[in-house]
Amino acid sequence: MKITTAQFVKSITGTDEIIKGGIPNIAFIGRSNVGKSSILNALMGKKDMARTGKKPGKTTEANFFLVNHTHHFVDLPGYGYAAPKPRDREKLRKLIIWYFTYGEVRAQKVVVIMESKAGLTRFDEDMLKILKDKKYSYILVLNKVDKMSQKELAEQMKKIRQVVGDADIIQTSTVTGQGIDALRDKILSE
Ligand code: GTP
Ligand code: MG
Repeated sequence: MKITTAQFVKSITGTDEIIKGGIPNIAFIGRSNVGKSSILNALMGKKDMARTGKKPGKTTEANFFLVNHTHHFVDLPGYGYAAPKPRDREKLRKLIIWYFTYGEVRAQKVVVIMESKAGLTRFDEDMLKILKDKKYSYILVLNKVDKMSQKELAEQMKKIRQVVGDADIIQTSTVTGQGIDALRDKILSE
């Protein structure tokens, strides 16, 4: 399926009327700096709509984008990022927990993004546990595969499979565009 329109709607840090409108949410989550915002831009075909950064901790709110007038893509802050100020760290943690566990929002699908060099981290495992407990439908993505040789990638996939079994893992790169169409199809199917 194609994305024909995409626009930024708003950023929120807690309860808001936007989550009550009944538009299905697709949430993008993962460790800080894995490329969540970059993947959103690649999916939407807009270069700078979601703000990206060289350093971790770029996204600090839940940013809502309206896609095809039918879905909200939600760009979330990364987890596992040790923000310099403890207060900021706590704020980010609370936002993620609120989004996934308070029951006010119910994402239709969650895209869990990992980075190819780091693979599946303890933070990802904790996140997957929450998603399984709460019966979310999720999609696993391994991003930045342009940074890996085929051999390194095969080894990383093997390690990840030891934990997630034969769950689908979409390999992506926002640099080469690999996997972006496949991910878009998977998100917008069903
Ligand atoms: P936070 O908002 O801080 O949690 O980060 P994020 O997960 O949204 O990451 P972001 O999209 O801001 O990207 C982080 C950095 O990774 C940027 O410098 C991107 O250009 C780079 N990046 C993203 N995707 C890829 C990729 O597929 N390959 C490579 N080589 N770099 C990438
Ligand atoms: Mg971001």
